[in-house]
Amino acid sequence: MANFYSDELISEVIAANDIVDIASGYMKLQRSGNGYKGLCPFHSEKTPSFHISADKQLYHCFGCGVGGSSLQFIMNIENLDFVEALKFLADRAKISLPEENSDENNNEFYEKRQAIYKVNAAAAKYFNKTLFSDQGKIAQRYVSSRQLDSKTAVSFGLGYANPDIADCTEYLKAEGFSEEIILAAGLAKRSTKTNGLYDFFRDRLMFPIIDVRGNVIAFGGRILGDGVPKYLNSADTIVFNKSKTLYALNFAKHSCHDRIILCEGYMDVIALHKSGFTNAVATLGTALTEQHTKIISRYTKEVVLCYDSDGAGQKATAAAIELLKAAGVKTKVLTLPGAKDPDEYIKKMGASAFESLIFASENATLYKISKLKQQYNIDNIEEKIELTNKMAEIFAGIENTIEREFLMKEVAVQLDISFESIDAQVKLLMKNNAAKQAEKEFHDQSKKDKQRFTSENTEFMSECKLISLMFAHSAVYNDLNDKISDNFFKVKGCSELLKQLRSAKQKRVNIDIATAMSSVPPEYSDKLSYAILKEQPYTNPIKAATEIYNSILKNRTSPEKDINSPEELSKIIDMIKKQKNK
Ligand code: UTP
Ligand code: MN
Repeated sequence: MANFYSDELISEVIAANDIVDIASGYMKLQRSGNGYKGLCPFHSEKTPSFHISADKQLYHCFGCGVGGSSLQFIMNIENLDFVEALKFLADRAKISLPEENSDENNNEFYEKRQAIYKVNAAAAKYFNKTLFSDQGKIAQRYVSSRQLDSKTAVSFGLGYANPDIADCTEYLKAEGFSEEIILAAGLAKRSTKTNGLYDFFRDRLMFPIIDVRGNVIAFGGRILGDGVPKYLNSADTIVFNKSKTLYALNFAKHSCHDRIILCEGYMDVIALHKSGFTNAVATLGTALTEQHTKIISRYTKEVVLCYDSDGAGQKATAAAIELLKAAGVKTKVLTLPGAKDPDEYIKKMGASAFESLIFASENATLYKISKLKQQYNIDNIEEKIELTNKMAEIFAGIENTIEREFLMKEVAVQLDISFESIDAQVKLLMKNNAAKQAEKEFHDQSKKDKQRFTSENTEFMSECKLISLMFAHSAVYNDLNDKISDNFFKVKGCSELLKQLRSAKQKRVNIDIATAMSSVPPEYSDKLSYAILKEQPYTNPIKAATEIYNSILKNRTSPEKDINSPEELSKIIDMIKKQKNK
């Protein structure tokens, strides 16, 4: 993969960051053999399958299969792209990187992202200017009817997309942006009739969506009155993924260490920020996802859910509670008496009333219990039994013993049942759950092991082992150099590594496998790290490499395996039949 930054600089950055040091900032590591292991931060597990090799500077999780160098670790855990992760590591090691907008830039994908950020920023500026111009009078009136002052409109970068068919597009073209980039940013669409471009957003109040690094990545546009859709959002692009984006996190990131207020809409967030609750964020017309909760868990200790009070909002609350629990985020639920959403509540009751609601917000388990109680008539004994059983299920999901015991005691009194009975039932359920979980983990693991077992026998594993030996031992490299052509490796990740190794050797610089692997796409780094970290140390690397090399050649020249027994023959016939039936 071509990059803007030179290989030397990338090497320097990788070498300046110890992967053990980096990973230990995100997880607890314990020594294991030559390296370290711990509970994988990328999937949930009870026994550690995440391994780090300190001397190879690589990680791999044998549970979920992710792996690579420190750079890929940071890309994964911080949700960054290659360049962003490189900057992150450079900052950490106090290495300064050259300016981005230099001529050397030859990474197409990176360039395209930068161009989209730029066109989005230009569009945001254009919408904002239109809002405060004569053309924007109607939108200004709408803004003030929603009780937004101009200070708020400016700080959120609000704008107005006028009703003309292609005004914004024409403006952007005049500013020098290509049609291709305007389309790629989702700001315009191509008409099938005229083949010309038309603006995606027209006659709408515009909300720029800004990422935590300050780039405008997308827009939401609200109709100025009634109509459908009420909000129109940019489609996903190469810089915008709805399921990963939280509106206003760019502002909230400074004040959400203790708590994030999670609400549904743009207007809710803006009303909250305006009243001083600068830790409010919202999802963008989508339900909360696992990706959202992963991001949230990195920014805060606690979420206060503040969804709309209608049925949809309450359903979304129940789903969000489970997702946040799975991400290990403490969750509370805020109830809005007499208002449909936080925006309306604050307007009716004011900021200090809202503040009291935050403090009165209910622990997610208590919320679940009270919701459950509303569904049953406890004067009817059968309903009461069913309710108590459902409660026991909730308690069985609480890991903290103290929390569980307090809640059970309270419910035992309310339902007039002994604490011991509830406790016995809960313990039984917990035992069953643990057994089910263990069985599931075991099943998942053995399924994966099976897949790996087959892939270990393939050329794939051999190629990975061979390239890793070539990196680790100059003697192996020298021994095989003449025999191995540039396109010897069939696994793309391996041939990419070979290219880098050869170029480093030509330049007479050292390159380790972690550095080279940093620029290999994740689908390869996951597998390569597996093959490399799984490999046992070789007592005689040259001999091992020759054997692997020969076995690769042999496999390529003899595709048919010898058949030694009738059992093998029938297995092969079965396999052929199966393939035909596919
Ligand atoms: P709501 O319908 O609750 O909107 O949708 P709201 O925030 O109260 O809006 P106002 O106060 O009437 O202006 C909540 C969120 O769902 C998304 C938007 O992100 C909105 O803020 N949404 C809603 C859409 O994406 N499209 C829609 O058509 C409606
Ligand atoms: Mn709403």
